[in-house]
Amino acid sequence: MQRAIYALLKGAGSGSFPTIPGLHHLLLGERRFRRHVLARVWSKVYHEPLFRLSCARCGSGLMMLEEQPKLLGNLRVELGERVCLAGNQTWIAAGDAAEKQLVIGDSSYLGYGVVVAVGRRVEIGRHVLVADRVRFSGSDGHPLDPLARARGESADERSIGSIAVHDYAWVGAHAIVLKGVTIGRGAIVASGAVVTHDVPELTIVGGNPAKPIGTVPPPPDWVTAVPDTRA
Ligand SMILES: CC(C)(COP(=O)(O)OP(=O)(O)OC[C@H]1O[C@@H](n2cnc3c(N)ncnc32)[C@H](O)[C@@H]1OP(=O)(O)O)[C@@H](O)C(=O)NCCC(=O)NCCS
Repeated sequence: MQRAIYALLKGAGSGSFPTIPGLHHLLLGERRFRRHVLARVWSKVYHEPLFRLSCARCGSGLMMLEEQPKLLGNLRVELGERVCLAGNQTWIAAGDAAEKQLVIGDSSYLGYGVVVAVGRRVEIGRHVLVADRVRFSGSDGHPLDPLARARGESADERSIGSIAVHDYAWVGAHAIVLKGVTIGRGAIVASGAVVTHDVPELTIVGGNPAKPIGTVPPPPDWVTAVPDTRA
């Protein structure tokens, strides 16, 4: 009996259900409306107001393409003007219970599935593009000592560091930026790179560990374009 049911289910699973014109057109329309129109409205009237309440500062023109970022731990979030956030973001205050800071500057974009683990502070400048599934890892999370790790002790001070991404930088999809790294103004991190050291201005880095693979010629008005005021 069991075998007969298994064979029946297996047969049903490998077969294909016919597309019924009319019915499936209707279902496709409903699905598109639900995912593109209703989800957008829901994001505006539910997620955005709740998210604003969770931020210490949130500039005008916030654009949230889907649900609000998942905020974990004691994290102070400051957003500039016209920040755009794709969905499925996770922003974590990593390590101890002390307050950590995440600052995102004007007109910057964080793509789908970005994870920001803040060790002390993560500062993303203005007009920065962070592509899908980038991970900022401001804390290693666990000690190097295997026995301390087994005892569940937290990581020590040297495994935590601030991260800065200066104005106009572009971090490619699936890149990982580790603790203590500063990415210079207008620099590019190639997709999939693991960035362990600072990246100079207008430099392209790629690979694991990321090394310089090119440079970007400075645009004519580079010096006067929104100056980077951070140290
Ligand atoms: C960084 C990037 C812009 C460079 O583009 P490019 O200037 O056209 O680079 P090229 O394809 O000419 O490659 C130049 C060199 O860099 C290397 N390179 C390019 N991309 C690389 C990567 N992701 N990792 C490692 N090396 C890379 C190439 O192999 C090549 O090396 P070689 O000269 O020894 O052959 C591009 O590779 C990239 O990563 N784009 C990000 C894409 C992305 O994430 N988009 C998301 C949308 S926001």
